[in-house]
This record gives sequence, C-alpha cells and structure tokens, in this order.
Amino acid sequence: MIRVEHIGIAVSDLKKAEALYTALLGAAPYKREEVASEEVVTSFFQVGPNKIELLESTADDGPIARAIAKRGEGIHHIAFEVADIRAEMARLKAAGFTLLNEEPKRGADNKLVCFVHPKSANGVLVELCQEIS
Ligand code: CO
Repeated sequence: MIRVEHIGIAVSDLKKAEALYTALLGAAPYKREEVASEEVVTSFFQVGPNKIELLESTADDGPIARAIAKRGEGIHHIAFEVADIRAEMARLKAAGFTLLNEEPKRGADNKLVCFVHPKSANGVLVELCQEIS
C-alpha cells in the first residue's frame, strides 16, 4: 500500500455537502463524476496529498442509499493507493481477507478499484485503488 488515497463519505444531498465541505476545507471540489455501475455521483476535494470523496446515491436501493439507511451519513470507506491492484488483491486474499469483487473494476477518478469486506477489516470498508495510466 502506498498511502491513504481518499476517504469516502456517504451523503444524502451532494449539493449541500459540497457547499459544506467547500466551507470546511477552504477549497471547492475539483471534479464531480457519476459512476453508473456503482449507482453514485461523486465529488472530489484535494486536501494536500489526500482526497475526500463525497458519495450520493443515484438509486433508492443503491449501495450508498442502503449504507445511509443503515448507519446514517458519514465515513463510508477508506481507500488505499496501490501500485499493482491484482498483486494486492492476491496478497490480501491469501491472507484471508474477503474481497467484494474478484476482478478490479473501474471506479471514479480514473482508478481501478477493489473493495475488501468490512467484516474482514474491523468494520471498515477498504478500497484498493490504482491509477489507470
Ligand atoms: Co472511493
């Protein structure tokens, strides 16, 4: 793992959350991007070497909508940048972690991503992400 790449925050109103985080961080988001396969629209803020990703559901029963129904708004996942996502997936699988996808998939912000089940990571949804070059 190279570094914490971003922290994902589930929000129910992206527009309001963008205004709030713009005020909090003192800088506007640098991009908004919909990821249709995940049923989310995301908004990214740069904070030094790390990012904050706000996530709003685009479907009533999407993953983010379900997370908010269960636990309310708040931190949804922690994403770690990796150099070789397939190698990291194999390493974690061999170490007994449960991966939520068997193949890397295309995520927001030009990344290949894979998620690790929170049950195998002390209740934290972990995202591995590798920049697509
Ligand atoms: Co993320």
